[in-house]
Amino acid sequence: MAFDFKVADLSLAEFGRKEIRLAEHEMPGLMATRAEYGPSQPLKGAKIMGSLHMTVQTAVLIETLVALGAEVRWVSCNIFSTQDHAAAAVVVGPNGTPDNPQGVPVFAWKGETLEEYWWCTEQALTWPDGEGPNMILDDGGDATLLVHKGAEFEKAGAVPDPSTADSEEYAIVLGLLQRSLAADPRKWTTIASRIKGVTEETTTGVLRLYEMQREGKLLFPAINVNDSVTKSKFDNKYGIRHSLPDGIMRGTDVLIGGKVAVVCGYGDVGKGAAEALRGQGARVIVTEIDPINALQAAMDGYQVTVLEDVVETADIFITTTGNFNIITADHMARMKHQAIVGNVGHFDNEIDMAGLARIPGIEKIEIKPQVHEWRFADGHSIIVLSEGRLLNLGNATGHPSFVMSNSFTNQVIAQIELFTKPSEYPIGVYVLPKILDEKVARLHLDALGVKLTTLTKEQAAYIGVDIAGPYKSDHYRY
Ligand code: NAI
Repeated sequence: MAFDFKVADLSLAEFGRKEIRLAEHEMPGLMATRAEYGPSQPLKGAKIMGSLHMTVQTAVLIETLVALGAEVRWVSCNIFSTQDHAAAAVVVGPNGTPDNPQGVPVFAWKGETLEEYWWCTEQALTWPDGEGPNMILDDGGDATLLVHKGAEFEKAGAVPDPSTADSEEYAIVLGLLQRSLAADPRKWTTIASRIKGVTEETTTGVLRLYEMQREGKLLFPAINVNDSVTKSKFDNKYGIRHSLPDGIMRGTDVLIGGKVAVVCGYGDVGKGAAEALRGQGARVIVTEIDPINALQAAMDGYQVTVLEDVVETADIFITTTGNFNIITADHMARMKHQAIVGNVGHFDNEIDMAGLARIPGIEKIEIKPQVHEWRFADGHSIIVLSEGRLLNLGNATGHPSFVMSNSFTNQVIAQIELFTKPSEYPIGVYVLPKILDEKVARLHLDALGVKLTTLTKEQAAYIGVDIAGPYKSDHYRY
């Protein structure tokens, strides 16, 4: 059956399928989920709109959701993160051909413009039968934001006006809403009313959800997947430990050993970033605003100081804060020749790229896609990776399969929870019960040859837990 989609090149599907096959072996959690839930089809009737980096690992997630009965439409949550062969393979599907695609509608390609990005998001939210989506799987909250903003304008009877936007990207969002509301004045409230819930992948998206909940603006229940222990303490940390140096190396081929690297933020992502750079022999300096994280960094052996003190002497600068304006245009102008600047926090505003472009006399030279030399009027230059967007996905291929299996198994379980037990989740933001978190970890032990010790009945009673878990209280921090 013909269906709508937009990807770079369907002839890449065979390569994509081969990599998906290898990834499946590295994603035991997702494959176990297929085996456990496939026969009962808990997601039958679910129409899931997904907005999450369209990579090989995400392909295994998408096909797991389909194996559990869901209908799916997908976009990337970043303009540079799509792996075109993975997108093609998902559209073609395991049994289709490029001439006869039989998979899942995907709207994503590497190197979208911002206009294209938001167009893709709207396409995936617009179900051809007019009856979907009824679930969102989000990463960073852009799909959730579009539905909420659209519904907000509708309820207020207001017309979105792009000229009131405070950024180029928000102007694009307002323009899209203006056009879509002119065509269908009830589009976004209708979509919002059908949605049973959203499962959110990352720290930044979760922050947005709690904010909407606090302000009484949240329109449907949400599961915070990020704060499953088997997500943020694994993907954010061990994932970045792999994919950050991968991105720096693929982008620049620079030797990290001996360099001075600054990591801004020492949360879960910052911890993985600092460890990776130290592992390559860099001398790592951390910046933090939180005294607890700053003390952790110091105890872990890093120098902790302010950016101003090292901006002129360090070689590599990586932002991991989820905050904005961490590296300003003035900072970048003061950096030494060929300093490398990159971000792995969710949005591109950690580094003031707009301010950099406005510096008089500055010249942007493309070395290759997602690697740019910015030459200042005095002749010295810096290298910026992925235009300030997630460099581990823009310059490399994101986190590897095994760690994403942990994150995505949480995603699948969260989708099943919200879709099959709506009465247990009134509008609000939830985390998965610890017993399910432990289950996700358990599914990944065999592959690593881990032998788990079993509590005796007496030991379980002594520490006050069930032999089968959960083993920790909810306030335990790992
Ligand atoms: P987190 O909240 O654990 O860590 C952020 C840290 O930055 C905190 O310790 C905070 O105190 C610190 N911080 C805030 N403002 C700062 C400032 N002005 N200067 C220095 N430090 C500052 O968050 P997490 O989980 O580490 O995530 C960070 C970002 O990375 C989020 O945007 C998240 O969505 C994103 N992320 C990216 C991934 C990737 O693949 N690139 C994977 C997972 C998360």
